[in-house]
Order: sequence, then C-alpha cells, then structure tokens
Amino acid sequence: MVDRRSVLKSLFIASGVAALAPLFPLGKFLTPEAQSSYPRQKVGNINNIPILGQLFVTYPRTGDPTKDGDPFRQFLIIRTGENEVKAYSRVCIHLWCLVDFKKERDLIECPCHGSQYRKEDGYAVAGPAAKQPNRYLPILKVEIDDEGNIYAIGIEGEIGYGR
Ligand code: FES
Repeated sequence: MVDRRSVLKSLFIASGVAALAPLFPLGKFLTPEAQSSYPRQKVGNINNIPILGQLFVTYPRTGDPTKDGDPFRQFLIIRTGENEVKAYSRVCIHLWCLVDFKKERDLIECPCHGSQYRKEDGYAVAGPAAKQPNRYLPILKVEIDDEGNIYAIGIEGEIGYGR
C-alpha cells in the first residue's frame, strides 16, 4: 500500500523534475547529498553564533541563486558549546518543511505538523517524523579551525529521508 507521504514526495519530485529538468542533470537534482565527493566550503564562524544560537547555511553553495535556494541545500548549525556545534539538514523527514532550533524548548522543530528532533543527535522524538523508518535528520559534517571558521565538508544521510 502506498502511503500519503510517498505519494506527496513522488508528486513533488515529478513536478520539480519536470520544471527543472532543463536546468539540472536528473541525478544531481534528486540526490545532491549522494555525491561521492563534497567541496570543503566555509559556512560561517562559531564566534558569530551565540551559545545555543543557530545559523542557517547553504551547502554545497554554487553561486547560482536558483540552485542555492533549493531546500535540499539548506542546513542549520547550532552552537552547543565553546568550540562545538551540531549541524543538520533543515528538511523535515516527514513532508519536507524546513525545521529550525527552538532554544526555549531545546528542540529542533518543524512548523508544519509538529515534529520535534533532539539537538544532540537529530533524532525525531515527537510528531509524524518520529514514525518514519529513519528517524534522524541528516548531518552536515563540519570542521572548525583555530580561528573559529566553520567548514562544511560533507553530508551524512539522505536529505528528506533521514539516516
Ligand atoms: S513536514 Fe510534517 S512534521 Fe515536518
């Protein structure tokens, strides 16, 4: 039996691919996260993020506003310590709304249907995302240098589907 989520995602992909097919190689549009190698790109500086603050970043950045505006390239970085961050895809694993971190509840939340994720590991603890087979938000892999510069170096998991 096909569930509503699968149907919606299929429709989204079909309509998006149809509209964007002339612009993107199909494989790249569907799975930018599945690239075999990722660029190392500076995405921010930890000293500009307050403790328990968040920064939204685009990765991999191309310089093309259309590609860079793709929700599948949107990530959030939460500063969790003096020299520590957690970074995840912003795409909710339920139906692909964009999540953000709510400091007052110490959770990453989706505005659409109330899914909540732990900031520590991106695990869905409530809402429809907690019923998905892969309950963790994909990770944006980062490195921080001696000056606090944050570099994105890759992605772990499948954007929109978790890990
Ligand atoms: S899209 Fe439904 S809870 Fe996020």
